[in-house]
Amino acid sequence: MEKRKLLIAASCVASMVGLCAALPAHAQFQKPEHAIKYRQSSMSILATHFGRIAAMANGKVPFDAKAVAANAEVVSMIAKLPLAAFGEGTDKGLPTRAKPEIWKESAKFKEASDKMIGEIAKLDAAAKGGNLDQIKAAVGGVGQSCKACHDSFQNDDLK
Ligand code: HEC
Repeated sequence: MEKRKLLIAASCVASMVGLCAALPAHAQFQKPEHAIKYRQSSMSILATHFGRIAAMANGKVPFDAKAVAANAEVVSMIAKLPLAAFGEGTDKGLPTRAKPEIWKESAKFKEASDKMIGEIAKLDAAAKGGNLDQIKAAVGGVGQSCKACHDSFQNDDLK
């Protein structure tokens, strides 16, 4: 790398560090509404791509192993995103279905997220294998992990 480019790179890193230092240690989002929008968007993307796999597993759409694998890859990546957007103080700011239990039982909430990520890892492995029966079983496991968390931590209506 030329010296000038190196200097630019170094100043970018420095400004990024500066930005981080300006935020409270726990906050990855500047405002609660950003966090709420982010977690709702990531849940929505998760549901869209998981739904495409589920439609094939349920026979509503013709099975396409390649499409399952591509969607499973997106699901695996996106599933890791929402948890960080449920920080303290993000219980309001935009209409949200998040229940107060998320912050009262935060260990249980994280466990529910870990459970989903584990089930999605199984789905990803089954998707790479291309076996429809294994994919169906894994879709069932993932679906239960979504439902289990929603039953405990998600309100039916926006508040
Ligand atoms: C760890 C708990 C948890 C898990 C696991 C979980 N969700 Fe959610 N989900 C929530 C909560 C809480 C909300 C409400 C977020 C809000 O309104 O701020 C939500 C919201 C949603 C929404 C509504 C998004 C919007 O537009 O407002 C969809 C769709 C959704 N989840 C789908 C899924 C799917 C599909 C899975 C499984 C692959 C899943 N969720 C797994 C907790 C979870």
